[in-house]
Amino acid sequence: MMKRKLYIETYGCQMNFADSDVLAAILAPRYGRTDDYKQADLILMNTCSIRDHAEQRVLNRLREFAAMKKRRAGLYIGIVGCMAERMKEELLEEALKVDLVVGPDAYRSLPALLDRLEAEGEKGLDVELSKEETYHDIIPLRAAENKVSAFVSIMRGCQNFCTYCVVPYTRGVERSRPADSIVDEARRLFEAGYREVTLLGQNVNSYRYNDTSFARLMAAVAEVNPLLRVRFATSHPKDLSDGLLEVMAAYPNICRAIHLPVQSGSTSMLKRMNRKYTREHYLQRVEAIRRFLPDASLSTDIIAGFCGETEAEHQETLSLMREVGYDSAFMFKYSDRPGTFAHRHYQDDIPEEEKTRRLNEIIALQNELSLACNRKYIGRTVEVLVEGVSEKRGRQYIGRNTQNKVVLFEPTEAVVKPGDYVQVRVTRCSAVTLLGELA
Ligand code: SAH
Ligand code: SF4
Ligand code: F3S
Repeated sequence: MMKRKLYIETYGCQMNFADSDVLAAILAPRYGRTDDYKQADLILMNTCSIRDHAEQRVLNRLREFAAMKKRRAGLYIGIVGCMAERMKEELLEEALKVDLVVGPDAYRSLPALLDRLEAEGEKGLDVELSKEETYHDIIPLRAAENKVSAFVSIMRGCQNFCTYCVVPYTRGVERSRPADSIVDEARRLFEAGYREVTLLGQNVNSYRYNDTSFARLMAAVAEVNPLLRVRFATSHPKDLSDGLLEVMAAYPNICRAIHLPVQSGSTSMLKRMNRKYTREHYLQRVEAIRRFLPDASLSTDIIAGFCGETEAEHQETLSLMREVGYDSAFMFKYSDRPGTFAHRHYQDDIPEEEKTRRLNEIIALQNELSLACNRKYIGRTVEVLVEGVSEKRGRQYIGRNTQNKVVLFEPTEAVVKPGDYVQVRVTRCSAVTLLGELA
């Protein structure tokens, strides 16, 4: 029998992208994956609730799929991921044409829900959160074209309860995946030709499985092979320890790139955000990074216009950005999220145009900082892990250096393939890429 076709459209963070490969594995006995939604018998939207805008995008796209369903009997539509968890049965409202709503911890129930849907036309809902589920025994069916670099989930959930954030409500409590299963997966990936793994969690520094801390886990993954690059995301500034920085420094294949979301440069804002650190603590962690890993790049996340943010507090964010000199940043306007502490107790009182102004200032400054960081590489030779070929500006190879900077270089006589390490002399740069030639 021809297998039916599954199309997964993924929104949100890397954890959702990793989960889509878990979903594909769970459904593999009955569905083959396609990247053409027009061919699909089952469409799953793996959704994100982090900002209102993310949800609106999904709802707009869902309207397109729902219209398609009218023309095609037998097409099923499922909403999975964080919106499924946040909105629950609301998504089963008739007009949306959704057949399945399944939260991030309930993916194993999909086959049973599909059975009932196919046999009896019964819509399926499972949004039960779990204290244990890590899908550690499921080998993700990786769809990404890039067979060089893979994401590996090492934990799920978050219980930091930053006051603006919906994640603790959509992903449940924090739990760590068994260390052995992580190291095994890294080893299998290396044997399959992968040369880079990124260990994923909302707050990887608090990973712990029995006696294995995050620092121990990192060391174990780094020892799989010196040719396997190891990255991780995301670190919470409140518990990025010197111990971890020491381990990083000891293994050249642990990448010199740290994503350390600051959110705000103002201690009073950080308190309102329940981030559990001060501006001074954050700067002291940055200082430790510079001490242990002098060549590390630093990136961050910043929120503009959170509840009650004064102009002075906004200026503190700008001054902290200058002081750190970030290589790059993800920058957002605050978006009020139902259910969060901020939604219940604070007022979303910064006018939209003021949020926009502050965000634009932050973005403009970051562009300057990124360019300044990249300029320092001009004239230097960097090791690049080749990921593929970019056709954007003629034919160029594309890869990244240990600092996670995208490096483009021209093809030469030398045969270069994805997964190779090459030395590239940087000759030019923009705020987002380094350009160079094979050294
Ligand atoms: N666990 C990670 C981040 C997860 S969400 C951490 O703690 O750093 C990614 C980013 O989205 C956050 O760092 C934050 O900058 C942003 N974000 C989260 N909630 C938001 C909201 N309500 N409005 C705007 N940005 C938000
Ligand atoms: Fe959200 Fe804070 Fe958890 Fe990050 S640490 S996912 S920002 S609650
Ligand atoms: Fe979005 Fe959920 Fe990730 S809200 S950012 S997909 S954990």
